[in-house]
Amino acid sequence: MEKHSYDLDVQERLNVELLRLRLQAKILFPLEEDFFLEDLNENARVLDLGCGNGAYLREVKNKFPSSCLRGFDRNQTLLDAAKNHFGIDCVNVDLLNSNLLEVGIRSFNPSVIFIRFVLQHLENQQINKVLTTVRAAKALTCIVYLIDTDDRRIKISPSSSIIAYALAAKNKQQACLGGDRAIGGRLQAVAENAGFDVFNNKPITISAVNIGRANWLEVFSPIMAGGILYDDAERQKLLNNEIESLRTNNEAVLEWGINLVRCR
Ligand SMILES: C[S@@+](CC[C@H](N)C(=O)[O-])C[C@H]1O[C@@H](n2cnc3c(N)ncnc32)[C@H](O)[C@@H]1O
Repeated sequence: MEKHSYDLDVQERLNVELLRLRLQAKILFPLEEDFFLEDLNENARVLDLGCGNGAYLREVKNKFPSSCLRGFDRNQTLLDAAKNHFGIDCVNVDLLNSNLLEVGIRSFNPSVIFIRFVLQHLENQQINKVLTTVRAAKALTCIVYLIDTDDRRIKISPSSSIIAYALAAKNKQQACLGGDRAIGGRLQAVAENAGFDVFNNKPITISAVNIGRANWLEVFSPIMAGGILYDDAERQKLLNNEIESLRTNNEAVLEWGINLVRCR
């Protein structure tokens, strides 16, 4: 089977990832809220492309219970987790298995489209194909949000060679499979390249100061490990020790940069 940069083939990693996505959505929703408040409301029709376990859709539904939601993802295990959460009786929520490279959005007529932490997993050509298709199919008034990581804006101090190793290895692994963990810095360019008008491009810094040290590390440690160190018990142990020392170091600086692009 073709290998993608977001394959979760081990149950333990899947469980960690489910928790991470949940926590990440909870943390980011309030940080992003100001940005999309004028587009989201009880009448919104929200399409989440690459919705994963539906963590972000849950936040939207909590805030706007009457909004109408649709999520697409190609990972059935993550979709099942989303379906379990919403339950079969949940009105106005559809969760569908589809590859974004073939997705049909016109029939849903969305007012807002989210593409969150997905483009980092695609090759440039695939990004352009997804965005051009979305742009051609969406209604004129529909707003599109692209949100993704820029790992060049990660700051960890005191510095640690094992953490630097883990981050570099993760970036390399994702790049080998066609992804780019610095895509946040290119979001405006990829959107414009696909013909979108970009209204805002907002860098957001997620830090131990604005979300708390324990949360930062819980969101971040699976990104650092990400399948590379799990297979090397010795390095994994060193990494765990470093994370523990950051958790207890009140002087430590921990930051991660993402970008939020709003376009039409
Ligand atoms: C890091 S997760 C982000 C999930 C969600 N958007 C969020 O913010 O919590 C990336 C998601 O993109 C999905 N994905 C990646 N490439 C895809 C593709 N070509 N078609 C459909 N889903 C894709 C993965 O299955 C995964 O659920």
